[in-house]
Amino acid sequence: MENGIDPRALFTLNYGVYILSTGYEGKYNGQIINALMQLTADPICMAACLHKDNYTTELVEKSGRFSVSVLEESVPLKFIGVFGFRCGRDFDKFGECRYEVKEGGLPLVTEYSLAGIELKVLSVQDVFTHKVFIGQVEKAQLFKEGTPLTYANYHRVKKGKSPSNAPSAIFNEVK
Ligand SMILES: Cc1cc2nc3c(=O)[nH]c(=O)nc-3n(C[C@H](O)[C@H](O)[C@H](O)COP(=O)(O)O)c2cc1C
Repeated sequence: MENGIDPRALFTLNYGVYILSTGYEGKYNGQIINALMQLTADPICMAACLHKDNYTTELVEKSGRFSVSVLEESVPLKFIGVFGFRCGRDFDKFGECRYEVKEGGLPLVTEYSLAGIELKVLSVQDVFTHKVFIGQVEKAQLFKEGTPLTYANYHRVKKGKSPSNAPSAIFNEVK
């Protein structure tokens, strides 16, 4: 334990696992995110926390829009690896998955996904290493009924790791 912060205490927080995607000037990219939550109901707004170094972050700032795909529990670790451990600057992640292109050229990953949500960016907050994007939901669709993957199951059942750009990378030390 350093500075009185026990990482096991933070590991008790619950999250889902999602793909956050965007498109700018015909270039599509997306990344795995667990730091995502709904904030309000009327209008429906959400917050997404993205590392400043990520290519997705750069494109969301330019496009002002992003989509969220809710991953199902049965998603293979390899699929998560494409979006969560590789950078889209030198690799076309959308050549590796099924997706739809929504209004305004916004890509939405449909593979291994239970639901898709489209948002427009309302504001951006700098948080040290990351930027928090507050988005307003414009559209939401359910692809199928099923069990969403939780961040806890990603670690405990799938034995997945968190890359250094994930806000919760500290959890790697707990295991
Ligand atoms: C389970 C998991 C959760 C993650 N959560 C976040 C997150 O909440 N925010 C973030 O910025 N990166 C997160 N990441 C890391 C990004 O997905 C990763 O850095 C990705 O390669 C960025 O790709 P890009 O450079 O193409 O945007 C997570 C990765 C994994 C595997």
